[in-house]
Amino acid sequence: MKIILANSYNELSRKAADIIEELVSSNGNAVLGLATGSTPVGTYRELIKRYLEHSLDFSGVTTFNLDEYIGLRASNHDSYNYFMNYNLFDHININKDNTHVPDGMTNDPRTYGRLYDRMIENAGGIDLQILGIGSNGHVAFNEPAEELNLGTDLVKLSKKTIEDNSRFFESKENVPTEAISMGIGSIMKARRILLLASGEGKAEAIGQVLNSGKVTTWLPASLLLLHPDVTLICDQEAFSLVDRRIMAGAIV
Ligand code: PGA
Repeated sequence: MKIILANSYNELSRKAADIIEELVSSNGNAVLGLATGSTPVGTYRELIKRYLEHSLDFSGVTTFNLDEYIGLRASNHDSYNYFMNYNLFDHININKDNTHVPDGMTNDPRTYGRLYDRMIENAGGIDLQILGIGSNGHVAFNEPAEELNLGTDLVKLSKKTIEDNSRFFESKENVPTEAISMGIGSIMKARRILLLASGEGKAEAIGQVLNSGKVTTWLPASLLLLHPDVTLICDQEAFSLVDRRIMAGAIV
């Protein structure tokens, strides 16, 4: 894992946008894996700025999002479908037919998930997957557990995730308890992964992933250590519990 340290959230967002811009400029038909949550919002804002300032061209880009809440329609303001339109797609020249967010209204998540993974394969696979990390070490909605889903499938949200995400909802009771999420296998197939972590709320998870020298499904983000091309962009707060003696060589 390569590590890029940023001095602020804005710098983290600019550095993440630099990597996405480099890919999209060199491959107009790039396939991006996208994430929701607070962390990538600044990166999306940067991409919009670059589209407006120097016409960064998304017209041939295809995107696949990681996850969606079960029971929320795309038109629901709390859905990740809505989030993506609001925070990115409505403001750049992407062809909406080429954007994909899992359908939270599916009544057969297993079959739907297999189709979603097939669609990713048919698009040529993901060139660059953007990921956040949960305070409990989850990636997408793959929560710490004895076993993790390989492909896109139904997941039950952990108590911690429901608590963490309640800030986006009117109350904790309004947070859906299930989601459809890319599995750890779907994520690991991406050719390159960009993991973003900001703020002290992520320090424990990042510290555990980088310090322990172990991988475990009880810390899903640790499985990313098995991937050959992961770049972590991290601010100082999120990096504060990492043993710098161990990781010094990884910081670029
Ligand atoms: P956040 O969520 O960006 O809102 O902190 C990240 C995640 O849960 O993966």
